[in-house]
Amino acid sequence: MTVSSPQDITVKSKRDFPEFLEKKLQACDDELFKPRKNGKPLVIGSVEPSVGAIMLQSNDYLNISGHPSIREAQLQVLQKDGNEPVMSAVFMHEGSEKYCFEQAVAEFTGFESSILCQSGWAANVGLMQVIADPDTPVYIDFFTHMSLWEGVKTSGATPYAFRHNEPAHLERLINERGQGIVLLDSLYSTNGDIAPLLDIIGIANRYGCISVIDESHSLGTHGPHGAGLVASLGLTDKVDFITASLAKSFAGRAGIIICSRKFARYYPYLAFPAIFSSALLSYEIAGLQATLEVIKKDDYRRVNLHNNAEFFRNGIRNLGYNISSQSQVIALEGGLESDTELLRDALEERGVFGSVFMAPATPKTRSLMRFSIHSGLEKPELQYVLDVCEAIRDEIGMWNWKSTRRKKIE
Ligand SMILES: Cc1ncc(COP(=O)(O)O)c(C=O)c1O
Repeated sequence: MTVSSPQDITVKSKRDFPEFLEKKLQACDDELFKPRKNGKPLVIGSVEPSVGAIMLQSNDYLNISGHPSIREAQLQVLQKDGNEPVMSAVFMHEGSEKYCFEQAVAEFTGFESSILCQSGWAANVGLMQVIADPDTPVYIDFFTHMSLWEGVKTSGATPYAFRHNEPAHLERLINERGQGIVLLDSLYSTNGDIAPLLDIIGIANRYGCISVIDESHSLGTHGPHGAGLVASLGLTDKVDFITASLAKSFAGRAGIIICSRKFARYYPYLAFPAIFSSALLSYEIAGLQATLEVIKKDDYRRVNLHNNAEFFRNGIRNLGYNISSQSQVIALEGGLESDTELLRDALEERGVFGSVFMAPATPKTRSLMRFSIHSGLEKPELQYVLDVCEAIRDEIGMWNWKSTRRKKIE
């Protein structure tokens, strides 16, 4: 039957979807949104932090968002007359602002080229879509960021997960499956531990594998003037690709793939995010360029950051919490969701706000509260958080957490 007017088409209820979608939404309601014993939903704590609350949720590790020179650079572009190029990256060429920023990042990290992407997610998915395929094994640290896992899925490759930070297990898998692609994060975003990069890259290169290291949480914070962990370990000419979200130390909205000149030439014509999705706007790129200058220049921000992180790690360990962090990302692992929920409530009542991680970001029995330490925090603020963590240990049952008991056994 042909339809001649909109009146002939059945009206859709805006409230009810077909059962296949309703089921998914209902599961989310049951698991996450329904108020629990404490009257709050599992995933939402206090919506309004009190005045003076200590916020440990932001990944602006160098405390530079709102920096006057970054704002000024963005404003200057926004105030210019004329049209803004609004298009996909595939149409942007040498000489564009995007290209100049890419060259600056390449120089900063010691690589030949880089490719500016819309986000860290887009960088990882786009890169994997281009370099992987169903016939190539992909070896991936179990804790690697979801965007790289998602990229593997997009490429149709089979992922072979190696145990977190265990190079020997990686080597065993490569021996079984052969040459392929090795994926890992340099600094893990949930628990803040650092990958054994020397060992892993040593193995990857011995077997002729391609390596991709996500430096989202170490670019800007680690290495010479913030050039990252790969640079600080002298691995620049031994690694194929670095990727990073620029929504951490760069405090912006973008991502980057750092690579060879050869690869950068092909990428825009092969990667779907470069072809089928629009590129960043000029004012955003100008902001990132100014941010890069601040990051390179302000070594004192990194010194403060690492001092703060060390102070907090030592303090929290002395209180009996079992943390695996070696960095500014510090996680208290309640384990069971109900325990992490108790922890969140106890902290929020005392004006301390971190980020709750639970499934699908962690395994269901390893939920955690993540604190992101930044360079602008003062020692008394950190000491206050430590005092709170000390005072609540019995109330939240910390001594009985699986993570605490693991430490006693070790
Ligand atoms: C390690 C890692 N990679 C990639 C991403 C994705 O970055 P973006 O938020 O820029 O999409 C994140 C963000 O959470 C991350 O932590």
